[in-house]
Amino acid sequence: MACPNIALIKYWGKRDERLVLPTADSLSMTLDVFSTTTTVELSPAASGDQVTLNGTEMADEPYRRVTAFLDLVRQKAGRFEAAVVDTHNTVPTGAGLASSASGFAALALAASAVYGLKLDDTELSRLARRGSGSASRSVFGGFAVWRAGQGTGDEAESSSYAEAVPTPDLDVAMVIAVVDAGPKSVSSRAAMRRTVDTSPLYWPWVESSRADLVDIRAALERGDLTAVGEIAERNALGMHATMLTARPAVRYMSPATLAVLDRVIQLRRDGILAYATMDAGPNVKVLCRSSDAQKVERALREGTSQTFIAHPGPGAFLRSGDSR
Ligand code: PMV
Repeated sequence: MACPNIALIKYWGKRDERLVLPTADSLSMTLDVFSTTTTVELSPAASGDQVTLNGTEMADEPYRRVTAFLDLVRQKAGRFEAAVVDTHNTVPTGAGLASSASGFAALALAASAVYGLKLDDTELSRLARRGSGSASRSVFGGFAVWRAGQGTGDEAESSSYAEAVPTPDLDVAMVIAVVDAGPKSVSSRAAMRRTVDTSPLYWPWVESSRADLVDIRAALERGDLTAVGEIAERNALGMHATMLTARPAVRYMSPATLAVLDRVIQLRRDGILAYATMDAGPNVKVLCRSSDAQKVERALREGTSQTFIAHPGPGAFLRSGDSR
């Protein structure tokens, strides 16, 4: 079982696509909603893997991503049996709500256990990273930082993983405003590649993101949620600016997204701590005090199809047959 995470300092752009090595560190909060539960069983007699997502057999590119990931696990374990993978997402898949993070974190944990790999959290995070970069952070509960790592090849492979960021007890929540639950127009993978290759704002944003990471860690440490929110919001808007200036532009924000951002500004005018972040999709996640979450949620309901209140959630864990 694993939960999604929402980045406050975004991962946007790889320096190595095959190894899924990011250009910069990122930092996230793991949620206590939208969990993914994945069961993996070995199927030695089968000629190939069988993968179902929410009861439907997976095919094409999503299927290939899972089997390529299982191949990596098998290669590490030195075993070659096929697997039956059954995944249940409680998050609307492909809506920019980071189902790939919980999905690959859960798969990394279940598959590594079934194939007999005994991994600690760092090794598990490294493995999950190969499925989807943001999955490296969902191994951990609460706040986590994913290190870009250094160098190339083996050195880089082993130095890029996430770790927990200890914080004081924070009165924090995240309100998720779903403005469109449909699948996204461009995959985050393709959008990232295009942004790195063509946006003149990309490297300046990476520079500012490095500074944002230092600042947000300090803000988290002193429990300064206003600063955490300010930094997260500017980091996300900066990331979207890099996409908007890619050639051709990638635009995930819709009029409904901007309407939610306006409401967040209004909440602040009304004296409520509320800061927005958006990922590779039109939906908005609003960081606020846990004690204000219902008020924030009510304010965001209009013009959105669904709203959810989340808090810091648990790291990935095995439910039964635990062999770690
Ligand atoms: O892990 P991916 O390939 O789905 O990329 C996720 C990228 C963002 O959600 C936009 C940012 C992040 O850090 O999670």
